[in-house]
Amino acid sequence: MVTINPAARANVTLIDHPLVQHKLTLMRKKEASTSSFRRLLNELAGLMIYEVCRDMPLQDLEIETPLEKTTGKVIDGKKLVFASVLRAGNGILDGVLSVVPGARVGHVGLYRDPKTLQAVEYYFKMPSNMEERDVVIVDPMLATGNSAAAAVTRLKACKPKSIKFLCLLTCPEGINTLYKEHPDVRVFTAAIDRGLNDHGYIMPGLGDAGDRIFGTQ
Ligand code: URA
Repeated sequence: MVTINPAARANVTLIDHPLVQHKLTLMRKKEASTSSFRRLLNELAGLMIYEVCRDMPLQDLEIETPLEKTTGKVIDGKKLVFASVLRAGNGILDGVLSVVPGARVGHVGLYRDPKTLQAVEYYFKMPSNMEERDVVIVDPMLATGNSAAAAVTRLKACKPKSIKFLCLLTCPEGINTLYKEHPDVRVFTAAIDRGLNDHGYIMPGLGDAGDRIFGTQ
């Protein structure tokens, strides 16, 4: 069994809120239908994004209530970007956008070349002015960490202000690999599972997230 590098573990925020843990357990059940899996994923994503956004900078804004002038706080800077790793990342988008509706959305498509085992990009589209934006990469499963690391490398070429990684589940292998290549990227997850099986699936996990979201199993 792979153990987690302590420095890599310190870079992970485990979101252990009871509502998050409850919904995650329902999603793991093999008998969860496609529609309930998708609904739970949206609900979970909406809860988890609060923690991801906890350190967002605020600025003062002068406003007028129906009674008097006052100063409120609003989020500072350009709109956040949710970068979905295709295809399972798309299952997280509705949930995070329900809480941060003004965010922009980018997509990263990567596949693993069976000969070289290197991640090959087949799609990449991000909003403009990435140098002025913070990015949250969304992908339900941080498994081997190879495609996550490749997605971060590709996004870094756009020079965003910061990058975070939001997943539902991860494991020691994924945490260690991503940290080795990108120690500056904090991971937010609802669980750190035991490890990978021989096919690269997280154990006990929840199976193939893309298949369960889209009903393609
Ligand atoms: N991708 C999935 O969808 N599930 C896993 O367990 C690992 C990678």
